[in-house]
Amino acid sequence: MEEGPFGGSCRFPGQGIFAYLNYLTPKSRREILELLVNGLKRLEYRGYDSAGVALDTPDGKDIAIVKKSGKVKALQDEIVSKGESLQIDLSTDCHVGIAHTRWATHGVPSEVNSHPQRSDVGHSFVVVHNGIVTNYKDVKLFLEKKGYCFESETDTEIIAKLIHHLYTQHPNYSFRELVEQVIQQLEGAFALAFKSRHFPGECVATRRGSPLLVGIKAKTRLATDHIPILYSKDHRPHGRGDMPILPRSDSTAEFQPLEDKEIEYFFASDASAVIEHTNRVIFLEDDDVAAVKDGMLSIHRLRRSLDDSHSREIITLKMEIQQIMKGNYSSFMQKEIFEQPESVVNTMRGRVNFEDNSVILGGIKEYIPEVRRCRRLMLIGCGTSYHSAIATRQLLEELTELPVVVELASDFLDRNTPVFRDDVCFFISQSGETADTLMALRYCKNRGALIIGITNTVGSSICRESHCGVHINAGPEIGVASTKAYTSQFVSLVMFALVMSEDRISHQQRRAEIFNGLKHIDEQIREVLKLDEEVSKLAKDLYTHKSLLIMGRGYNFSTCLEGALKVKELAYMHSEGIMAGELKHGPLALVDKAMPVIMIVTRDPVYVKCMNALQQVTAREGRPIVICEKGDTETQSFSSKTLEVPHTVDCLQGLLTVIPMQLLSYHIAVLRGYNVDCPRNLAKSVTVE
Ligand code: AGP
Repeated sequence: MEEGPFGGSCRFPGQGIFAYLNYLTPKSRREILELLVNGLKRLEYRGYDSAGVALDTPDGKDIAIVKKSGKVKALQDEIVSKGESLQIDLSTDCHVGIAHTRWATHGVPSEVNSHPQRSDVGHSFVVVHNGIVTNYKDVKLFLEKKGYCFESETDTEIIAKLIHHLYTQHPNYSFRELVEQVIQQLEGAFALAFKSRHFPGECVATRRGSPLLVGIKAKTRLATDHIPILYSKDHRPHGRGDMPILPRSDSTAEFQPLEDKEIEYFFASDASAVIEHTNRVIFLEDDDVAAVKDGMLSIHRLRRSLDDSHSREIITLKMEIQQIMKGNYSSFMQKEIFEQPESVVNTMRGRVNFEDNSVILGGIKEYIPEVRRCRRLMLIGCGTSYHSAIATRQLLEELTELPVVVELASDFLDRNTPVFRDDVCFFISQSGETADTLMALRYCKNRGALIIGITNTVGSSICRESHCGVHINAGPEIGVASTKAYTSQFVSLVMFALVMSEDRISHQQRRAEIFNGLKHIDEQIREVLKLDEEVSKLAKDLYTHKSLLIMGRGYNFSTCLEGALKVKELAYMHSEGIMAGELKHGPLALVDKAMPVIMIVTRDPVYVKCMNALQQVTAREGRPIVICEKGDTETQSFSSKTLEVPHTVDCLQGLLTVIPMQLLSYHIAVLRGYNVDCPRNLAKSVTVE
């Protein structure tokens, strides 16, 4: 990857951790609560069925937990209503607050199932958790035998109770040591942040298979850009048995503080929650245990592995807060659709040189000779990311002259697909955390293939586990429906095709056409966006229908699939992307005068075939809406309504034809009264298989 670290693992749907620790930095309780709630709001796009916070009680002797089902706004209202008892005007110099947004995996969305989960009514320990603990039943049974009673249906509660149990057995253990003991007993994937009544002012956080970062905001300049890793002795017993109490694990290294005064720490599932406070972050690796005590951060690991680095780097993020705000748009999705003229340019920035028609992809440059020698290219992803692979397959075949296989990650894994050392496998993922894609990556990596990540998320698992890669640089995509990431993935893969063909004389003319197309693509996208009003009118004709068929072929087939996916996920309307060449093999039977049909017909090598399909539809009394090139009167004569997009080179036309489909799905969803940023049953990062 061109920036950010390597390493890491996977994220769970719709869950967000945010914790805040202020050390020698006076804050009122109101400020702390606002900070926690705002952190949750930034993470809300990841999951939204309930939320909660934990902070010290005003006398500092207990922990107050406020939890609420529903949106973070509901939690905020609850906090306001409890304002007096929480004594929000009191100020504190050192404090730890932890917060969470939940999307139910174990137990229904309810207050009792929300996080923070507690160890006991006295709140000895409270914890927030992303992920799934797969052995929670065993641990629960063990704890029940020890007399613990459970109040929630969550897997998380076992974590709170297990640390309490260990604490009662080993009251001399440090908070960090207790957490180390806990995670040795857990199976599955998790990111955790703990707070304890017994360890005031301390916060311990850890992860395995779910992302977590630490943001650092120091009053004075940090003395280092790297936090050394401290190793503890591994006393893990063999076999689970009756959940033995583990002997203490002593740190083998000196405690090396990052900073010792006036410092604030943020623990968050992703950078969007911390960026308004600090751009200095550390992405934790699996099994890192990050502990803050007396304002000092240390990172521990239980055991060394061969590829361990000796420290964690403090990275400076370049993301700006405006990038994650909605601006004047009614939704993140709308904003992201309209950002595409800029986001595609950002994808090409510093890489494409239009003066000499060259491309440099810094993140994969050194691997290009190896890629050229490969047996085949495999492009693997899910949903929209998969569609970007379909969109560019034909061009990749043409310019690389290699076999190109496009795979849905889930199906690829189901089939135990043969993969070889001389395969080059691309893993395309906006979030960089999609479980199926990540599993497929590991599968291919284990078989010796070269792994190239194409992601939008610096520091994501796919980015970290790839050998090399390309950041698509589309900026944060908050709306669950992927829009600008699609066009940026598309452009990234086109850039890769251009790199691969740079010294092929036979491709020079074609390459020149593509460079020319890319040069103007931003202004052409801007032009397509002007169709918004027209598309919105069209949506009014369509939104009451039950179904929508979207047909096309060749370079535009991916627009059909992507358009149909957008309509399904946002408008909850049945929609199918149909390969026009398949019409006669079945789908034509669906066509009559009542069935809404959209056809994408552009002046490319399959134009005549598309026109045939169009006529087949009109012959069945279909009244297709056509997305075509500007001034194509021939196509327009067969349509009931047309949306005209500018002409570009055939292989880039999909960058333009997809935009009316994004707008249409958006408008239909709005007319149907749905929340376009958070469609039901879906989350931005799908991190369960
Ligand atoms: C697209 O609108 C969807 N939300 C979904 O299909 C998404 O593209 C898919 O889950 C893959 O996500 P990723 O790009 O983050 O891996």
